[in-house]
This record gives sequence, structure tokens and C-alpha cells, in this order.
Amino acid sequence: MFEIQSDSTLSKAQRYRDLETALESLLEGETDALANLANASALLAQSLPGINWCGFYLLRGEELVLGPFQGKPACVRIRVGQGVCGTAASRRETVVVADVNRFPGHIACDAASRSEIVVPIIQGAILRGVLDVDAPETDRFDDDDRAGLEEFVAALIPRVAWERL
Ligand code: SME
Repeated sequence: MFEIQSDSTLSKAQRYRDLETALESLLEGETDALANLANASALLAQSLPGINWCGFYLLRGEELVLGPFQGKPACVRIRVGQGVCGTAASRRETVVVADVNRFPGHIACDAASRSEIVVPIIQGAILRGVLDVDAPETDRFDDDDRAGLEEFVAALIPRVAWERL
């Protein structure tokens, strides 16, 4: 069993550094791409307070297709350029949405979601997919979350055999 100790007295930046360390020890020695993405989503769900969905969409042709996640069942296919996930994929940059009701084209998978962050997964120059994290409160994600989740994705990229997914 794998437990992460989350000390709420630590700064958010420090907790993200601890999360990255936890990710590295969780995935150490394992090369199976699906298993590593599944465990990465479970680690986020266990570690991030105040979220209701987290997981991966993987690029297949011109579409993002649902990958390992934690939360309610979600929409399976999102075209690049569509919704928050597709926007982050086409811009190839992180998108933070403070209030999803004010984001034109937002795709509501879980009606409880109010804010969202989507980090693109880019290996070298190749877009592999996105990490999507949703929260039931507006304005849940700030610059610390953006930096922390971008580092989380950067640590994950070399530990997943993306071409085998
Ligand atoms: N809200 C996302 C769709 C994915 S779900 O929230 C899990 C979007 O607009 O891209």
C-alpha cells in the first residue's frame, strides 16, 4: 500500500514538491504505461484537497480520448480545440478556468465541477494528451497549482511509454 503524508502546515509549493517525490517512488521500476498513468491519477486524487475529478485524456489522431482517471464517469472523446481540455491541447499551454460557466464551450462532465485546470502533456515536441483536474468550488486553482501540476506532468513524462498507449 502507498500512503502520502500531506501536512497542511507546509506551503502549497512544498506539498507539490513532496507530491513529485511520491510520484517518483510510486512509479520507480515500473514501465507499464497504463499502470503508471492509473497510479498517477490515484495519487493526485488522494493528495489534492477540494477536487472532484482528475485524470488523463490521451491524444488519438485529432481527438483526446479518456484515459485513467478518478471521479465520476466522463465524456470519452474531445476534439482538439474543443472545451477546456481541447483548448489546452491546441494552445499547448496550461489553461486555468476560475469559473467553468464563464468558459465558452466548456464540456460539463460532472455537473458539480466549477473550476478546472488542464495541463498539456508534451514529450519533446509531441503532444501526448492532457492532465485535467476539476474542483467543485470556483477559483480553486492558482499559480502554485499551475506550477506544481506542470512539474508533476514533467516528472511523469519520462516515466510513461506513451507510444505504447
Ligand atoms: N470539462 C472538460 C471536459 C472533461 S471533464 O471535465 C472530465 C472540458 O471542458 O474540456
